[in-house]
Amino acid sequence: MIDTAIEKALNEQIEMEARSSHFYLAMASWAENRGLSGTAAFLFRHSDEERLHMLKLVRFVNERGGKAIIPPLASPTTDFSDLQSIFSTLLEHETNVTASINEVVDLCLKRKDYTTHNFMQWYVAEQIEEEALARNILDKLALIGSDKGGLYLFDRDLEQLQTEA
Ligand code: FEO
Repeated sequence: MIDTAIEKALNEQIEMEARSSHFYLAMASWAENRGLSGTAAFLFRHSDEERLHMLKLVRFVNERGGKAIIPPLASPTTDFSDLQSIFSTLLEHETNVTASINEVVDLCLKRKDYTTHNFMQWYVAEQIEEEALARNILDKLALIGSDKGGLYLFDRDLEQLQTEA
């Protein structure tokens, strides 16, 4: 049976992954409405993957004899000025997700729950990839600046860019 403190932490992580999915869905819709179809495709994929991150946690909590809580979600902001603001918000959000995952891992060690600790290692590795990807995209945007041709190529490249390794 899963420790109640671990169950609570995992349920909070479920909510965080669900919010990530919702958040990136709003970003994808913003991009689609501005004709940035490659960026929209990338963000729609990213949103789907966050849902899978949530689902993986839901299944794990239930398998371990806990009760996964499916959270209500507030409408995410769509108040973005440009692509720079989208991806810096995304990076900031992912940094918070990493901190939250690290707290779960820390709690697992304190409670000697090595099964959940092992399960969480997938999320630890995933966060390294996601933060690196967001930084890489922001570097590209900084290089492009206000060059419209560069922006066109950026959007086209994002269509193919994988959100997961
Ligand atoms: Fe599942 Fe991007 O954190």
